[in-house]
Amino acid sequence: MKSIQVGLLGIGTVGSGTFNVLRRNQAEIKRRAGRGIEISMVADLDVTRAQAVVGPDVKVVNDARAVIANPEIDIVIELIGGYGIAKQLVMEAIAAGKHVVTANKALLAVHGTEIFAAAHAKGVMVAFEAAVAGGIPIIKALREGLTANSIQWIAGIINGTTNFILSEMRDKGLDFATVLKEAQKLGYAEADPTFDIEGVDAAHKVTLMSAIAFGIPVQFDKAYIEGITKLGAADIKYAEQLGYRIKLLGITKRTSKGIELRVHPSLIPAKRLIANVEGAMNAVVVNGDAVGNTLYYGKGAGSEPTASAVIADLVDITRLHTADAAQRVPHLAFHPESMSDLPILSMSEVVTSYYLRLRVADQAGVLAKVTGIVADAGISIDAVLQREADEVGGEGSTQTDLIILTHDTREGTMNQAIALMQALPTVLEPITRIRKEELA
Ligand code: HSE
Repeated sequence: MKSIQVGLLGIGTVGSGTFNVLRRNQAEIKRRAGRGIEISMVADLDVTRAQAVVGPDVKVVNDARAVIANPEIDIVIELIGGYGIAKQLVMEAIAAGKHVVTANKALLAVHGTEIFAAAHAKGVMVAFEAAVAGGIPIIKALREGLTANSIQWIAGIINGTTNFILSEMRDKGLDFATVLKEAQKLGYAEADPTFDIEGVDAAHKVTLMSAIAFGIPVQFDKAYIEGITKLGAADIKYAEQLGYRIKLLGITKRTSKGIELRVHPSLIPAKRLIANVEGAMNAVVVNGDAVGNTLYYGKGAGSEPTASAVIADLVDITRLHTADAAQRVPHLAFHPESMSDLPILSMSEVVTSYYLRLRVADQAGVLAKVTGIVADAGISIDAVLQREADEVGGEGSTQTDLIILTHDTREGTMNQAIALMQALPTVLEPITRIRKEELA
């Protein structure tokens, strides 16, 4: 049988990886897919560089629409990125009856509802394994492997850049700005790292996981997003002394009131496997009611790891494209007519526990006042750590750090308590608040 024909839009890092892995493993991939998979046309603005990557036998053009218009092409891979031209091209490819494979998390997290609806109406597949956690097959696990379960929650380290930065801060006791510069020099962080360090990239990914875990529409605009830019070396050190590590987590959780969807730095017990995921690696814990906790670990970015996910989608489409569309795995795991309308909860309704650090005057009665406010708010304290003033502010210091770990409480209640503590004249700096997740 003739190989299925693939057109590739954008041949940068992931595109070249896809081309190379497909060529290197073509015999085995064919034995799995049931027929060959061939990238026969590539569109890239830099035609000369692209032609050098794919060799003379593959047609290279600078116009993506020429790929979409080619009746020989069955599947279009979109590796351009962003929401602009990439969205237009994906919609045009769907309208032309092509199946689409994309690694574009931003596009799907923001415009997924429109894109999946168009694909469903046209009877084509839009596959996006590479959009979440690179080479880790987490979409496959959520959509298929865990399909028996009522998924309760997901917590993931799904941004390698920030995990690298946090690992370095902990290992070397350095502050955020110093490590970011080092990460940029080593190529672990982009020249403009905003999406990574502000948590936006992780929010795109957790939004997609939330949709397929709970059968809700993609709702990136409702995600709570907080990055790692305000984290200090002191908090990482204190967390360590209390038996915790700080990680940027993407969390989505089912509650009786709705779905939590949030990205923020979190304290997690150092003894959890996921707490020991270091450097640029990714890991996702999924809790299902039947299976309990499962953990997925691997490279979340990079040329061939991401290509591994792109090609898995190509194989799935090759196996399924002649099947009745109703028999395919739905884009968001649940059939479109069976989607849930569970709301995404606002952050003030989220229930979690907290790490608080207060820089206070080292005077009699300060601890009592602070803990009195916490108790009056009905918040239960789990642990308190007070450092020696000399250790915190140098010899003769009159200031110290007070660290409080709480049990679960509503974020709205915690906000009120923090405002009252902040107003005390003996609380000398803005209070640091980091959420704590036991992931038990
Ligand atoms: N920039 C991402 C990361 C990889 O640092 O993990 C692509 O999503």
